[in-house]
Amino acid sequence: MSYPYQIKSLDSYNEAYTKSIESPETYWGEVAENFQWRKKWDKVLEWNFKEPSIKWFQNAKLNITENCIDRHLATKGNQPAIIWEPNDPDEHHRVITYKDLYFKVTQFCHVLKNNGISKGDRVCIYMGMVPELAVAVLACARIGAIHSVIFGGFSAQSIADRLHDAHAEFIITCDGAYRGNKEIPLKSVIDDALIQCNFVKKVIVLTRTRQAVSMIKGRDVWWEDEIKKVETMGSPDFPAAEMDAEDPLFILYTSGSTGKPKGVVHSCAGYMIWTTFTFVNVFQYQPGEVHFCTADIGWITGHSYIVYGPLCSGATSLMFEGIPTWPDAGRFWEIVEKHKANIIYTAPTAIRSLMSFGEEPIQGKDLSSLRLIGTVGEPINEEAWKWYHEHIGKGKCPVIDTWWQTETGACLISNLAGVTPHKASWATLPLPGVQPVLVDEKGIEITEKDEHGFLKGNLCIKAPWPGILRTTYGDHERCRLNYFATYENLYFTGDGAIKDDQGNYRITGRVDDVLNISGHRIGTAEVENAINMHSGVVESAVVGYPHDIKGQGIYAYVIYGGKLDDQNLTRLDINSTVAKVIGAIAKPDKIQFVSGLPKTRSGKIMRRILRKIAEGETQNLGDTSTLLDPLIVDEIVKNRV
Ligand code: WT7
Repeated sequence: MSYPYQIKSLDSYNEAYTKSIESPETYWGEVAENFQWRKKWDKVLEWNFKEPSIKWFQNAKLNITENCIDRHLATKGNQPAIIWEPNDPDEHHRVITYKDLYFKVTQFCHVLKNNGISKGDRVCIYMGMVPELAVAVLACARIGAIHSVIFGGFSAQSIADRLHDAHAEFIITCDGAYRGNKEIPLKSVIDDALIQCNFVKKVIVLTRTRQAVSMIKGRDVWWEDEIKKVETMGSPDFPAAEMDAEDPLFILYTSGSTGKPKGVVHSCAGYMIWTTFTFVNVFQYQPGEVHFCTADIGWITGHSYIVYGPLCSGATSLMFEGIPTWPDAGRFWEIVEKHKANIIYTAPTAIRSLMSFGEEPIQGKDLSSLRLIGTVGEPINEEAWKWYHEHIGKGKCPVIDTWWQTETGACLISNLAGVTPHKASWATLPLPGVQPVLVDEKGIEITEKDEHGFLKGNLCIKAPWPGILRTTYGDHERCRLNYFATYENLYFTGDGAIKDDQGNYRITGRVDDVLNISGHRIGTAEVENAINMHSGVVESAVVGYPHDIKGQGIYAYVIYGGKLDDQNLTRLDINSTVAKVIGAIAKPDKIQFVSGLPKTRSGKIMRRILRKIAEGETQNLGDTSTLLDPLIVDEIVKNRV
């Protein structure tokens, strides 16, 4: 398989970029010719950001799984599609060829059908990182059901909220999941979620840990039993559903500034083109290479760069069940050596955490197969970038710093490995089709450089790329308000950025009330809602602060109305409430009990002040004279934790 749209030099990047902006329809129409369609489009692009209404490849028909699987069968049927490395290094790894994948996916399509699932149904997938998770995702896509994968770290309450929002009547899960030395009781969490969701008709449960689970008659079925029922069919061929280009492919929930996560919806055709195009260009994938993306499929990175992007490109995708530090901090490097990975793509938080173990875990590991190394999820600090470049890339591998979001489907700003230059802690240049612009509070484009010679502002994008979100599930107005209403005719990312003279971008972080904890997005309002559920809590305010490993930590200011004889015990109680309501990832790192919060006379919490205090600033807190009770600031500063 060759990739005619792979950009191989700086000159052709410039050429491609210009063409993609000047004649987007020609450019993307040509890229799209390299995919498999049931019927081609009438028009490449029609859009306005007002509603928003964005339509790529109008009236084209396709099924993404025919692009991910079927079209590779003749040429690379025996090539590994997925190499799976288990949590426990002593368990055997698994290799799933494209032929195997075809068999498993089509077989599982029959299982879905037998259980009443059809085109347009929403299916919630709550599984650990086992190959069957990819199979479940692809089987949904093949049948035309809309998958909503929920990360295994989310609580029963979070699952219930998402099931309600999408009205998902079907669930695919596992008995449990292995992560490091922990066993996560997935099915039991699902059971708790379902107490509030009696509309759920079927739960398909894969055996992984063999821990005890309860199976409700008529509702819960074992994956293995269902497979047995279809096994007698011989070849399980299952014709893929014909999907419209703009039909929804999946929903993925992500946090915003409000207390309620939103279901980002991606389309079939645009998302396919965008993940594949960026995979081939950003990673400069070469046929036969092993691509190791360490993300979880519960996040967009796993959707786009473990499943859809690599498989549509006919690549070999390495999928890892466990965590970077178990059984020891050399696990990633051992996996790279064992499977001769050519690419590793991970998060700055993992790099910083592994960096803290020193070089010992790397010693003796053969990393010579690596051609490039990549990061995603949060700004990478120069120290971590350099360590990664020197100790993992051995000074030879290009480092790609890929900036994107759940909403963007795949990378928007990144260097192309070895083709366009890398620059420590800079995401660098926009991909073809991506038109970033930095604006001020009023939406006016920034044209004046700051004292360092950079343009600095809020990062927006001027026009749609094929992988842009289409809506937020069940609430289009919310999508408009969130992304398209802040600045007229622009998609607003929620990030701040700077730009240098060469056109490189450096993302400086969120400018809204969203935190980035270890590369995971969490809204402050969500954490506050969760803390406020604790019976003793009167009110709370949550901000982020710089954290050595996680990038950002969660700092919570809490007004406690109950008895407070043992602050530490109460902190544990609050944390446990947050873990129940959202999940362990949202537990505050620091909780400070306060008698009041700095509020304006209109009752608005002055987060700016709280943020400064959490960052360790005690002097220059800005103007506090407009506060209802300026004295409260002194008390909060005095009792910082
Ligand atoms: C937010 C999106 C993209 C998949 C993983 C996270 C931050 C992401 C970078 C980067 C600086 C980055 C942004 C963005 N972010 N990549 N390379 N440099 N910041 O997806 O959960 O949707 O979060 O992550 O703040 O808005 P997400």
